[in-house]
Amino acid sequence: MILPIYTYGQPVLRKVAEDITPDYPDLKALIENMYETLERSDGIGLAAPQVGLDIRLVVINLDLISDDLPEYKDYVHAFINPHIVEYDDTETESMEEGCLSLPGIHEPVRRPKRVHVTYLDEDFQPHDEWVEGYLARVMQHEFDHLDGKMFIDRLSMLRKQMIKGKLGSLLKGDFRCSYKVKARR
Ligand code: NI
Repeated sequence: MILPIYTYGQPVLRKVAEDITPDYPDLKALIENMYETLERSDGIGLAAPQVGLDIRLVVINLDLISDDLPEYKDYVHAFINPHIVEYDDTETESMEEGCLSLPGIHEPVRRPKRVHVTYLDEDFQPHDEWVEGYLARVMQHEFDHLDGKMFIDRLSMLRKQMIKGKLGSLLKGDFRCSYKVKARR
């Protein structure tokens, strides 16, 4: 089932999401729906707050970019209760980001190249690892959503000023995109 994507201005995008337990109702179906929603919107990552739920759950599909980055062929995973426990600030990189909750906005964001993450996989098995490269960027973007943050929070004052008009349009629901959304009106 395709879920509507909550866009900028929806309060759930600013909440700190809660960890969940294996008995969370219909979790398997929710993860399937999030994969389907992500695929339909041509996105590479989707966090639960973006579908209106304040829980720590993220799906990432990097198979979509595997033509350019073959190491991510068939990389489709769900992350339960993910947390970034450490940032390696020795090397940062600026790269353009977009977000399904911010249609029409694409801006360069500077982030560390390596992060130390913990999470549970779909079988609730614990993982504790350092990730780097493109995956590290996507995880930082998505896991930020679980702490009520969006990539626009990480822009310079100047860039923030430059997108003010676009953000205003998103708040008014005055925008178009190719997927189903739930905008604040
Ligand atoms: Ni996003």
